[in-house]
Amino acid sequence: MTGAPEESATFPFARPCPFAVPEEYARLRADGSVPRLPLAAGGDAWVVTRYEDVKNALNDDRLSNDRTHPGYPSPIAIPPAMRTNGSLLGMDPPEHTAYRRMVKAEFTLQRVRAMHPRVQQLVTEHLDRFVAKGAPGDLAADFAQPLTLAVIGELLAIPPQDLDGLHDATRGMFDAARTPEQRHAAISFLDHYFEQYVADRLEKPGDDMIGRIVQRNPQLGQTETVHLTRLLLNGGHDSTASMISLGVLTLLRHPEHFRALATDEAFAEDVVEELLRYLTVTDLTTARVAAADLEIGGSAIAAGDGVYPATAAANRDPEVFEDPETFDPTRAGRNRHLAFGFGRHLCLGADLARLELRLVFAELARRLPDLRLAVPEEQVTVRDGGFVYRLAALPVTW
Ligand code: HEM
Repeated sequence: MTGAPEESATFPFARPCPFAVPEEYARLRADGSVPRLPLAAGGDAWVVTRYEDVKNALNDDRLSNDRTHPGYPSPIAIPPAMRTNGSLLGMDPPEHTAYRRMVKAEFTLQRVRAMHPRVQQLVTEHLDRFVAKGAPGDLAADFAQPLTLAVIGELLAIPPQDLDGLHDATRGMFDAARTPEQRHAAISFLDHYFEQYVADRLEKPGDDMIGRIVQRNPQLGQTETVHLTRLLLNGGHDSTASMISLGVLTLLRHPEHFRALATDEAFAEDVVEELLRYLTVTDLTTARVAAADLEIGGSAIAAGDGVYPATAAANRDPEVFEDPETFDPTRAGRNRHLAFGFGRHLCLGADLARLELRLVFAELARRLPDLRLAVPEEQVTVRDGGFVYRLAALPVTW
């Protein structure tokens, strides 16, 4: 088997179906090669696929998150004016370390545990609403998206009537199908909205996530707070919503596991971890640019080169996961998946996302035990492009 990709291969590779990761990942992983590939959106990047290499890369101080660097790779073309480093995700130490500390207090396990009753209530209310509309329904657009938006919206104390507009603009910003002008308009709308939102909090901080952060950290500037709020809104719902839809689609193929979720809370935790591994919807969010010369898997990477540590490839590495192509929530040992990243940028919302996913899958199993697809599985389509892998729609009946 050879790791050399096809002459014409461009990155990102396509997934053959919602349950499989690109076939090229297995080929590259098998011989450990780290090729430099042209990117579909222009430029090129080194693609890393082995678990240990991916994990080390995500933890390597020589690999930077600087999105304003011309070598920083992206799955979609991003005009230079839209490349900002204002949020945590675009920062490197020591700035990142200090900034992350300010936000981390909002995501402690204790705080997330305290969110449990309210998140459960929101899950129940959104499912009531979805069911009341009648079968069949689109679980992606009419349940997963509004629910995850409502959760982060409440934490940020954003008026519920503003959430849909903000969501559309967020999607618009990262939608490869829209023109650069449309995407620029979306980002301007978000900046304008959040400038006012942050100004209100700086003037009179309330008891919401951003209010508390600005109160505890008076040194935090207006622009940084705008970028942080935007990141939390965006990161706080899109990946979780995608995990709900793809997770349900996966569970419908495994009715024995779906049924068990109704009563077994501990099992729900295992199911969530395995779905995170198996689906790895944020494969394309962990790009880096080399800040110094380094070597990965025998490839010499020069300062300024783009690097893609592919977490979906790492999460199917047979060196780490037995029978990795199989969805198996009963797999032994701790699930060491990298779906939330690794190292200094490890997802801050991971425990909140886990809570939402656990409660959603358990509630669906209890309330809709006959849940099933309303169309043949081949007709469930994915939405290509963008950073988060997701379904275009999930038509279900019950
Ligand atoms: C299943 C859902 C989610 C997945 C799969 C996911 C995945 C990720 C990944 C892979 C990263 C690291 C990116 C990198 O290394 O460059 C990340 C970072 C981050 N995520 Fe999530 N995320 C999810 C949900 C959430 C939620 C619910 C929130 C907040 C409410 C959130 C907030 C963040 C933040 C603030 C960061 C930046 C951390 C830093 O740069 O230090 N995420 N996420």
